[in-house]
Amino acid sequence: MKRPLGSAFLKLLYFVRPFRSTYMPAIFYSFLNKLFNLMPEILLATAVNTVVAKENSWLTNFGFHDLKVQLLVLGLLMMITYALESLFEYLSSTRWWNLAQLVQHTFRVQAFERVQKSTLRSSLDQKTGNLLSILNDDINQLERFLEEGINNIIEIIGATFFIGGVFFYLAPKVGIGVIAPIPIIVLAIFLVRKKIGFYYFNVRKKAGNIGALLANSLLRLLTTKSFVAEEIEKQRLERVSLDYREANFEAIKWGAVLEPAIRFLVLFGLLVTLVYGGILTIEEKLNVGIYSILMFLTPRLLTPFTDAAEIMVDFQKVIASTERLLDLFDLPVEQSPNTPIAVKGGITFANVGFAYQDKTATLRNVSFQIHPGEHVAFVGATGVGKSTLLHLLLGFFFPDVGTILYDDKDMHHVSLPVLRRQIGVVSQETILFEGTILENISYGYPEATREQIVQAAKNAAAHDFIMQFPQGYDTVLEERGQYLSGGQRQMLAIARAIVREPSILILDEATSAVDYATEAMLATTLREVSKRRTVVNITHKLSAAKLADRICVLENGTVVEQGTHSELLTKEGVYARFWKLQGESFSITNVKKL
Ligand SMILES: Nc1ncnc2c1ncn2[C@@H]1O[C@H](COP(=O)(O)OP(=O)(O)OP(=O)(O)O)[C@@H](O)[C@H]1O
Ligand SMILES: [Mg+2]
Repeated sequence: MKRPLGSAFLKLLYFVRPFRSTYMPAIFYSFLNKLFNLMPEILLATAVNTVVAKENSWLTNFGFHDLKVQLLVLGLLMMITYALESLFEYLSSTRWWNLAQLVQHTFRVQAFERVQKSTLRSSLDQKTGNLLSILNDDINQLERFLEEGINNIIEIIGATFFIGGVFFYLAPKVGIGVIAPIPIIVLAIFLVRKKIGFYYFNVRKKAGNIGALLANSLLRLLTTKSFVAEEIEKQRLERVSLDYREANFEAIKWGAVLEPAIRFLVLFGLLVTLVYGGILTIEEKLNVGIYSILMFLTPRLLTPFTDAAEIMVDFQKVIASTERLLDLFDLPVEQSPNTPIAVKGGITFANVGFAYQDKTATLRNVSFQIHPGEHVAFVGATGVGKSTLLHLLLGFFFPDVGTILYDDKDMHHVSLPVLRRQIGVVSQETILFEGTILENISYGYPEATREQIVQAAKNAAAHDFIMQFPQGYDTVLEERGQYLSGGQRQMLAIARAIVREPSILILDEATSAVDYATEAMLATTLREVSKRRTVVNITHKLSAAKLADRICVLENGTVVEQGTHSELLTKEGVYARFWKLQGESFSITNVKKL
């Protein structure tokens, strides 16, 4: 959903509200800085008047009657003005930088937190690279604007009011002519701003597309190389990069037209002072001092407006970035009651039906009951919905119909984080991160002791290969554990799942990549591990399923058979057919004989 453009600005203001104590002084110092910045022109003009017209200036009111003394005083005032201008420059810029840092830091952390807390359904729609570009580029855009953009806007507003006031005080007739272009400039800026708002939103969107493509592409570098698809990837990048360029061009075009137009209007104001003010001076309706003040001040009033186009473009970029950022804050957050739960290990599915967005039902009428401490295997063809079961068990998604109970508590009524902490999961994709093996195993359970970690690794049959590394458990794994074998990664993932001694252990193809000898070893230790907890083992390997207390067979999105290995074989149904296909030659007992 797209919000009207203005509201992003209002929301931005709302978000920066907590930083009032930083931005209020920043605005104040900026105004003072701009004020002192204009003083030298007035002092110079006064000096010109003193020298050329040999007239007493306003300094006579302060008791300085000698013209040379007046010049000296002007020099002194000039020094003071410069010193104060520099002081307020320092004070304002440090405050703006501070605000920029505060805002970018807070926004980044809050947006990241929001993405993490969003429902899986909504985060699946988000492309990782696009999120990266929002959390990086778009927030940086905001930082840059706060550092400089606002300061420039204050300069324009300050100059308009201050110099405008001086003009109307000294020479109202000339003032009207000089000020006249300003409303036209402001109007032009507003009109163009309206026009380019959409373009810059588009630019940011295209930047997000580049991010999405880059992230996606770099993560599958190996696949790209093995399929010699480098050229295809390059062309893809070229396409989105070109898209970005074109979107930028559309946006830049309007800003580029605006700038010369503003210059022209500024020129008009300058000519008014030069010619009309000059005529009035010749006719002695205006004194030379005032004429020189006007001459010095007119460019100071109008030239900042030539930068207005650029400032407006920057502002529009920020609004576009803010829109994207605020979209993240609109993501639906995963919610669950605070009710804690102490899981004993019982799981009940009662007539559960579930469909992913816009899809036909993946699970239909699924019913089964698992008792605490039971070891149940789920088998079924690829795509039948086994991993979907796992998603439902963890509350990533909720069933469309039916209920899921933990022990006797409806999942809807318990705190999901509390529940998840009591479940150890080895998902189908093993994700390791940059850090030591120790950190990888104790991920999410930082209180784990070294002994617990080593024991978990032993139970996961990982200890031996870990000890082969010179640094053992302190070996630093690279990003995604990419220098480990697939099987080694799975063993670490199993260790990670069991280190926290969960009440329920869920394995989703946890041993798909380990060899049969390792699997046999794992089976023995897992039998130990499973004595103390419920185990849900989703697996293609019937050799592993065979060891379970009970096997649930899924077909067409529902449980069609349940029973022990031998019960199911005698039934001669789906499971018996699977068993025949895989062949007994792969069963654990045979491996042990090898
Ligand atoms: N996030 C998703 N959005 C939409 N459809 C999905 C999503 N995840 C899975 N599916 C679909 O749901 C069905 C079940 O997928 P699931 O991952 O549960 O299968 P599986 O039994 O685990 O398969 P495998 O044995 O290959 O792991 C598949 O048809 C799949 O295309
Ligand atoms: Mg799966």
